[in-house]
Amino acid sequence: MKAALEKSTYRQLADDLQELIESKTLRVCDKMPSLRRLARDRGVSLTTVQSAYEVLESRGLIEARPRSGFFVCPRIKLEDRLPVMPQGRNRTAKVERPDFYEEVMSAINNPEIVPLGCAVPSDEVYPTKTLARLSNAALREHGSSAYRYTICPGRQELRHQIARRLMTAGATVTEDEVITTTGATEALVVALTAIAQPGDLVAVEMPTFFGILRIIETLKLKVVEIPVCPIQGMNLDFLDEVTGEHRIKACIVQPNFQNPTGSVMGKSDRERLATLAAEREFAIIEDDLYGELPFEGKRPTSMLAHDKDGRVIHCGGVSKILSPALRVGWLVSERYYSQLEAVKSVSFPASSTLSEMVVAAFFADGGLDRHLRRIRQIYQDKSMHMREAVFANFPEGTRVNAPTGGFVLWVQLPRQYDSEQLALDALNEGISVAPGTIFTASDSLRNCLRLNCGFGSDERIPKAIKRLGQLLATSSKKSFGPGR
Ligand SMILES: Cc1ncc(COP(=O)(O)O)c(C=O)c1O
Repeated sequence: MKAALEKSTYRQLADDLQELIESKTLRVCDKMPSLRRLARDRGVSLTTVQSAYEVLESRGLIEARPRSGFFVCPRIKLEDRLPVMPQGRNRTAKVERPDFYEEVMSAINNPEIVPLGCAVPSDEVYPTKTLARLSNAALREHGSSAYRYTICPGRQELRHQIARRLMTAGATVTEDEVITTTGATEALVVALTAIAQPGDLVAVEMPTFFGILRIIETLKLKVVEIPVCPIQGMNLDFLDEVTGEHRIKACIVQPNFQNPTGSVMGKSDRERLATLAAEREFAIIEDDLYGELPFEGKRPTSMLAHDKDGRVIHCGGVSKILSPALRVGWLVSERYYSQLEAVKSVSFPASSTLSEMVVAAFFADGGLDRHLRRIRQIYQDKSMHMREAVFANFPEGTRVNAPTGGFVLWVQLPRQYDSEQLALDALNEGISVAPGTIFTASDSLRNCLRLNCGFGSDERIPKAIKRLGQLLATSSKKSFGPGR
C-alpha cells in the first residue's frame, strides 16, 4: 500500500513539473531544483523526487549533467527514440529453427544466469501464498478427484470464469465456446493445427514471439511476415497488400502489448483487421497473453470484441499474470469450436485438474484485480528504469520501445551492432538476452534485442545492463539493420 501511495505521488510530481516545462515556466536549459530542495518544498521523500525526475528523463524533458544536476532539455521527440518499423518483403518463407532458441530457453532453469532473455516474471511477482491457499482448499474440497483426468473442453467452473473475465475485454462469449489448454502454447498449436495444413501460408507479425515461429516450423507451415510498428502494431496496409496477392489461412496477431515490441493496436485497426479477415476469408488467431497487463487504466479489448463473422480464435492464459508453471491457457471460438475440439481431444486429451481448480478459484474470488494492480506497477517501474538504464549505458543512437503494458523492452542498436554476438558474449558472463534474429523467419533484426523486465528487485539487473553496454562498446562492429 505504501509503495502504491509513493508511486502515485512521484507520477503526480512528474506531471506537475511537466506542466511547468510545457508552460515555459521552466525553460530549456533551466536548471531543475535540486532533489533535496524539491523534496523539502513538496514535503516528499528524496526517492519520490528522484523517481519523478526519472519519469521526466524517460519522457525526454530533462537530462542529467555530471556533477551539475538536472536541466530542462530541448524536447526529444518520443519517435526519435523508438525502434523503427522493420521493412516488410511480401515474401513467403519456410521457418527454420533459429540458432539461439535453445540458449535463450535454457537460461530459464539456471539461477546463476541473469534472465534478461526470456519473458518470464520473477518469483516475487507470483501470488504464491494465495496459490498455496487455493491449492489446499481445492484438495480439501475435491479430495482424490483432483488427481483425475480433466478431459476436453476442460473444467466447467474455469470455462465459466474465463467467459466472465473476457467481458472486461469487451467480448461476449459463453463457457461453451471456451476450451482450456495446457498453457497458451498449446492453445496456439491447437488453433494452427485446426486451421492450416502443412504447406499452407499464415501471416505473422515481424518481429513476433519466437515460440510462434517454432510452432509454425513444427507444423510445416509457410509464413509471410507483416512488419510491426512499436506503437500501433501490425502494418495493415502491408497485410492488405499481402492478402490481395496470397491466400493465407490465418493471421496470428498480438493486439495487446505485443511481445516483443509492446505495441497496442488502435480500435480502427482492430476493426480493419476483422473486416479484412471477413473479406479475404482467413482466421485471426489472437494471442492475448499480455492483455491483462496495462500499466494504467483499463485493459484493451480482445479481437473478439471486433469480430465480424466469427473468424477470431482467441488464445489466452495465466503464464504472465499468475504463474507459468500452472500451465493453464485457453481457446475461445464459436465458429471453429468443433475443429478445435477435435484437434485438442485427439492430440492433448487431458489438462491439469488441480491447476484448473486453482485458477478457477483465483478468478472467482482470489483477488485477481488486486493482484494485477500490484504486478502492473512492478512491471511499469521495472520497464521504465530498465529503459533509462539502457539509454544511459548502450551506444549512442540506441532506440528502445516505450511500452504501456507487459514487461519486455525491444531495443534497436545502431546498424553496426550484432545482437547475436552480444548474446554469446553476455552468456559467457552469465547474462542471457534474446537477439532480434530469433523473432523473425527472415535474416534480419540482427541489430535488435529483447530484454525481460519481469524481474522485481533482482539487484543483479542494473549491473547486467551496464555490463551489456560495456560489451557493446568493445564489440567488433559490422553492418546490420532492421529489415535488411
Ligand atoms: C506472446 C506469447 N504467447 C505465448 C506464450 C506461451 O505461453 P505459455 O507459457 O502459457 O505456454 C508466450 C510466452 O512467453 C508469449 O510471450
